[in-house]
Amino acid sequence: MIKYLGSKRVLVPVLGTMAAAAGARTAVDLFSGTTRVAQEFKRRGIHTTAADRATYTGVLAGCYIATDARTVDREQLAGILTDLQATTPARGYVTEIFCERARYFQPKNGMRIDAIRQRIEDEHAGTELYPVLLTSLMEAADRVDSTTGIQMAFLKDWAPRSARDLELRMPVLLDGPGASVTGDVMETVDALPAVDLCYVDPPYNQHRYFANYHVWETLVRWDAPEHYGVACKRVDVREDETRSVFNSRRTMPAALADVLSRLRAGTVILSYNDESWITAEDMEGMLRDAGHEEVAVFAFDSKRYVGAQIGIHSPAGKKVGKVSHLRNTEYVFVAGGAATVRQVSAAVDEMTAGQRRRPAPRGAAALGTLSPGP
Ligand SMILES: C[S@@+](CC[C@H](N)C(=O)[O-])C[C@H]1O[C@@H](n2cnc3c(N)ncnc32)[C@H](O)[C@@H]1O
Repeated sequence: MIKYLGSKRVLVPVLGTMAAAAGARTAVDLFSGTTRVAQEFKRRGIHTTAADRATYTGVLAGCYIATDARTVDREQLAGILTDLQATTPARGYVTEIFCERARYFQPKNGMRIDAIRQRIEDEHAGTELYPVLLTSLMEAADRVDSTTGIQMAFLKDWAPRSARDLELRMPVLLDGPGASVTGDVMETVDALPAVDLCYVDPPYNQHRYFANYHVWETLVRWDAPEHYGVACKRVDVREDETRSVFNSRRTMPAALADVLSRLRAGTVILSYNDESWITAEDMEGMLRDAGHEEVAVFAFDSKRYVGAQIGIHSPAGKKVGKVSHLRNTEYVFVAGGAATVRQVSAAVDEMTAGQRRRPAPRGAAALGTLSPGP
């Protein structure tokens, strides 16, 4: 799984428990990112649709959610990966722009990425395995990158992992059907299927995923874009069409309220954190306004992403960002029919039994505190 800002690694078990307690058989993972939450739902036998706007997330969803492992010939896939791994490295866009001008990867790995990516395009574009092969390459590149997990900057000195040789591995595919929808949620929301449960995990600040993960966007689109600045971001990062209404304090609350009112889901689970622009009370109100009978909110203490812990450095090694605090609170709202919300709350109570409890914020039905572990 790629390193991803806001990825819900530590919340996955509790979200899975909630979905099961809600009795969901169909789900949408909205703002699916790495698809790790959608994967958890799929592992539990829930027919899941993963939706996000980034092209690279569409590839991850194509691999892990839309591909049914039972239809894939593993031997054939292993053979293709071995063959791709043996590709003669060749200097191309990734080497020149992301290794020589910027330093996201060491050139030896950049040349591997260039050569393998071109072969995937030439030999596998349009096939069932295309998203699986691209995912394998993206994850291999992620394991040897030299960043703190976002692509707005790279480390001053090469990260030790970047010295390793790029190695393609077989993505762990899941049995069962699923679906993927790629596009701006403001345009796709009405086309999403009616489901038992929708998990909603929107961005919560001004940091744009399109800019933070421009290298993955370019690797997947394979369009050799013009670039700018030390970080060599795609020029379209500056264009309005790549902006999300969810990255502006001015537009975000109304956009989220609109999406919540248009979703066709009996139960909505929404995660949000205490650095966000909407208070817990307002979020609860928004879910009630969207027509949900009952809303419960749980709070989870979580470690902030690693970039925040070590500070952000410019390519010259100067600290350009300040570490404010290292922990934050992740809120998980559960909204739906009263009986379902009670069932979900009971399941979370059981999961968190014996752990410290805190009083609920005003208006919230329940608040538990869970330390999800490493
Ligand atoms: C907090 S992350 C989701 C992380 C994900 N749940 C995980 O565990 O990996 C937010 C996601 O929202 C997506 N996003 C931002 N604006 C969007 C929009 N307008 N429509 C659809 N997706 C959007 C981003 O691409 C990003 O993947």
